[in-house]
Amino acid sequence: MANATAGVVSLHGTGMCAGARDMVRLGTVRCCYRARRWDPVTCAAPSGSVTEDVVSKPRRLPRVVGMGSKLIACGSAVPKFEISNDDLAKIVETSDEWISVRTGIRKRRVLTGEESLKGLAVAAGKKALAMAQVEPDEIDLVILCTSTPNDLFGTGAQVHTALGCKNAWAFDATAACSGFLVGLVTATRFIKGGGYQNVLVIGADCLSRHVDWTDRGTCILFGDGAGAVLVQATAAEDDGFLGFDIHSDGQGYRHLNAKTSEGGTEEVISNTNGSTNFPPKKPAFSFIQMNGKEVFRFAVRCVPQSIEASLEEAALTSSNIDWLLLHQANRRIIDAVATRLQIPAEKVISNLANYGNTSAASIPLALDEAVRGGKVKGGDIIAASGFGAGLTWGSAIMRWQ
Ligand code: COA
Repeated sequence: MANATAGVVSLHGTGMCAGARDMVRLGTVRCCYRARRWDPVTCAAPSGSVTEDVVSKPRRLPRVVGMGSKLIACGSAVPKFEISNDDLAKIVETSDEWISVRTGIRKRRVLTGEESLKGLAVAAGKKALAMAQVEPDEIDLVILCTSTPNDLFGTGAQVHTALGCKNAWAFDATAACSGFLVGLVTATRFIKGGGYQNVLVIGADCLSRHVDWTDRGTCILFGDGAGAVLVQATAAEDDGFLGFDIHSDGQGYRHLNAKTSEGGTEEVISNTNGSTNFPPKKPAFSFIQMNGKEVFRFAVRCVPQSIEASLEEAALTSSNIDWLLLHQANRRIIDAVATRLQIPAEKVISNLANYGNTSAASIPLALDEAVRGGKVKGGDIIAASGFGAGLTWGSAIMRWQ
C-alpha cells in the first residue's frame, strides 16, 4: 500500500477522486476505486501543484496491494447429449461395471449439433452473473480457462462480447485440468494488485473432440461442460481467498498429452532458399495420449501435498475444511486424497458419476451443483485442487461468499 496512513487514499495518490463508485475499508486505510475504469477521473490536487487540473488518462488505480477477493456466485452448463457406460460398451470393449469400479463414472455429456464450447461458456457465465445480481457491464475481466477453444487464437473475447461485458477484456488460460484453478488464482491477483472489482472466471472444455473413441483406455473418462464463478473485490479483512499453491512439471508431459505434429513440411518446394522446413505444415493435434497408472500416481502424491501447502499458507488444518472439491477425474483419486487428508466422505463434493472428467470445467461445475443443491453455504471453507496435463497441479483454500 503506497499510503498506509489513516484517511482517504486517492486513486491517484493525492486528494479525493471524483467518480469513484465504491469505498472500501482496508484496515485503517480507506481506498476508493472505480468499477468503471474507462471513465476519466479528475483528482483535486493541492492548489499550485504541478498536477493541478490534470485529468488523468484512463488507467487502473490504485494498485491496491492487500485487496481481498471472494467468490460470490457460480453457474454451469452442460451439453444435452448424454452417453452412459452401457452406450460406450456398444462402441468399445468395456462394461459399465469396469468403468464405474475403476473410475466412478457412469455417464458423461458430449457436445453435438449446434452446441459449442462458446455457447456453454456463455450460458455458465450468464448464470453466475444472475446469481450475483451483477450486470455484465460491471465485469472488468473475463478469464476463459480452456484447452479446447473454438479458435486457435482463443475464445475468451467472443465469450465476453456475447455476455455483454462491454467494459471488460478477456483472455484464454490454458492449463488443462488445472485451468480453472490457474484462472481463479489469476483473478485474485488482478483484484489484489490491479484494482479490478469483478472478474468472471469460466472453465469450459470439450475434450470429447480430442479423444479417440476407439481407445477404451481414454474415451471412457472424458465429458464436456462449463462452469463459472464470479470473483469480487472485498476489503482485506474479508478476504475469502486464504491460500494457494500451484506447480507445473514439463517432464511429466509424456504421461498425458495431445501433441501437435511439429517440424513437418509440405512437399519441398525448390525456390525456398534450400530450406527443407519451408513452407511449414499446418500442425494437427494427436488424440489424447495417457499413461493412466502414472497419472494416477502423480495425482495421489501431488494433490494432498499441494492442499497441505495451501492450508499452511491459510494458517488452517484439514479439520477446518468444510468441503473438499477436487478436479473430477477419478473417484479413486478423490477417495485417496480425502483419506490422506483425513477428510470424511460426507465433506467430499463429487458429481463425477454424471459428467466424467470435464477438465477445466469440473471444479466450477461441481461447485455450482453443490451450491444450488444447498450443500455449500455462505462462510464454508472449500479446499479445491486441480491437476492434469502439463503436468500441472495446484490448490486453493477459499471461503464461499
Ligand atoms: N474397459 C475394460 N477394460 C479395460 C478398459 C476399459 N475401458 N481400459 C483398460 N482396460 C483393461 C486393460 O487393457 C488391462 O487389461 P490387461 O490386464 O488384460 O492388460 C486392464 O484393463 C487394466 O488396465 P490398466 O490400464 O492397468 O487399468 P487401471 O487400473 O490403471 O485403470 C484408469 C485405468 C485409466 C481408469 C486409471 O489408470 C486412471 O484412472 N488413471 C488416472 C487417469 C486420469 O485421471 N486422467 C486424467 C487426469 S486429469
